[in-house]
Amino acid sequence: MYCDTLGNTLPKAFPPVNPSTIVILDFGSQYTQLIARRIREQNVFSIVLPCTTPFGDIEQTNPAGIILSGGPSSVYDADAPPADPRVLAMGVPVLGICYGLHFITHHLDGKMRPATKREYGHADVQIVRDTALFEGLPRELAVWMSHGDEALELPPGFSLTAKTSNAVAGIADEARRIWAVQFHPEVHHTKQGTELLRNFLFRICEVAPDWTPEHFIQSTVQRIRAQVGAGHVICALSGGVDSSVAAVLVDRAIGKQLTCVFVDNGVLRKDEFRKVQENLRGKLGLNLVAVDAGPRFLSRLKGVIDPESKRKIIGSEFISVFDDEAHRIAQKTGSVDWLVQGTLYPDVIESSSVKGPSQTIKSHHNVGGLPKAMKLKLIEPLRDLFKDEVRRIGRDLGMPEEILQRQPFPGPGLAVRIVGEITPERVAILQNADEIVVEEIKAAGLYRQIWQSFAVLLPVQSVGVMGDQRTYATTCAIRAVHSEDGMTADWVPLPYDVLKRISTRIVNEVPGINRVVYDITSKPPGTIEWE
Ligand code: XMP
Repeated sequence: MYCDTLGNTLPKAFPPVNPSTIVILDFGSQYTQLIARRIREQNVFSIVLPCTTPFGDIEQTNPAGIILSGGPSSVYDADAPPADPRVLAMGVPVLGICYGLHFITHHLDGKMRPATKREYGHADVQIVRDTALFEGLPRELAVWMSHGDEALELPPGFSLTAKTSNAVAGIADEARRIWAVQFHPEVHHTKQGTELLRNFLFRICEVAPDWTPEHFIQSTVQRIRAQVGAGHVICALSGGVDSSVAAVLVDRAIGKQLTCVFVDNGVLRKDEFRKVQENLRGKLGLNLVAVDAGPRFLSRLKGVIDPESKRKIIGSEFISVFDDEAHRIAQKTGSVDWLVQGTLYPDVIESSSVKGPSQTIKSHHNVGGLPKAMKLKLIEPLRDLFKDEVRRIGRDLGMPEEILQRQPFPGPGLAVRIVGEITPERVAILQNADEIVVEEIKAAGLYRQIWQSFAVLLPVQSVGVMGDQRTYATTCAIRAVHSEDGMTADWVPLPYDVLKRISTRIVNEVPGINRVVYDITSKPPGTIEWE
């Protein structure tokens, strides 16, 4: 069963049929998504499927090539992730990577030797036989290796194509169109990794590099038009990249049959409510309903201190506001049939991967809850895309960089950056401090390099002195982190002069704050948001 981040069950029509699809079977490697990205960087469409996907479903994708990913297990483990071995006999080119090599060896009657310990790191590999996979590559490769089990006896028909000083590094049976390497070509430490993957795609699978933004936009617009027909569609906009790009795509397809709803939940950034309307309605011409529900949210948040309760209140209140709007729109248009969601590919992979469920640290209530009673069908135009691909599509759709480059902003907004009680006064104080942080980070040319940079309001009062006056006011923490995906993060060593300007400006320009501190905690052990 496929679910999105909100737990909605998704139709099993996934994945779409595409003539140049490379299917990656996921055996649980931390690098599986990276393989998909590397292939898409070559303008070739690729999808990640759990290794347990039924053979019939794999066949249905009409793959031009199959990649078997790495994975943490040994093929000898009792719970080694299984896959249907018929994928090795489809006649479609197969590339095994690390565990993929073990899987091939094991299932085609070779022998593996269990490793006493696993090792990761740089290794030198020597190419010992010419094969299409290594064409144009030097004879010596510097690679990123994961030594685990190793191939002791190759399966009948296979020959050694590459080795390290003491282990098998590559094997192939060209007659059966199967290649495998022990190292990771998708990792940037493997210097010629991209060339190797290009050889697999263009020499072996002979796919066309036709996965381009124009192709994506054209085919998605056509598909949405066919799907929706004369129906009516609503979309919850957050002002962020994903929901905005999704809305613009749907707008391209069906124009005024789409109504977007943007809700002011009282904890947006300063002027965000106005700016988002200017951008999306003014510049992009979206049919947008803006709902000023700030007071309604703030009155429900009154006196609430617990972070999870704040999230739950904002989540449920959002659904209720959105539901009201959806009914209002339905009265005007006759019906509302579809809901647009900005689900991205990593969410899809995450919900169907072979990894077990991880502990919930924070429940993330993203905007876009489904009004249950209305039985809306989902349109998820971005569910095949990674974040950087969404930006590329947005650019091709002519969207302003201001939207496309925006740092992520959590659904519960400033509420999870106000530690302690949320009052209209404290929201206004944080909005002013936050605006200064964004302005200074942008002025220093750092905004795009940093994953998130923001201010947090603490429930800590301290003594200060301004002019000859004693002050007793609130403390504000500044947080800036580098991250790839928000799962882990490093605090950013912001230049002292930038920190100094931020601190001086906040204390001078924001009444209510008299002390600024800098958060130097990475994730883990900290989280990015304070709540
Ligand atoms: P944490 O604080 O969990 O944040 O390290 C990781 C990333 O997720 C964002 N975040 C949220 N996004 N709803 C959201 O839509 C939420 O409730 C939420 N909580 C955290 C956070 O900004 C960071 O990018």
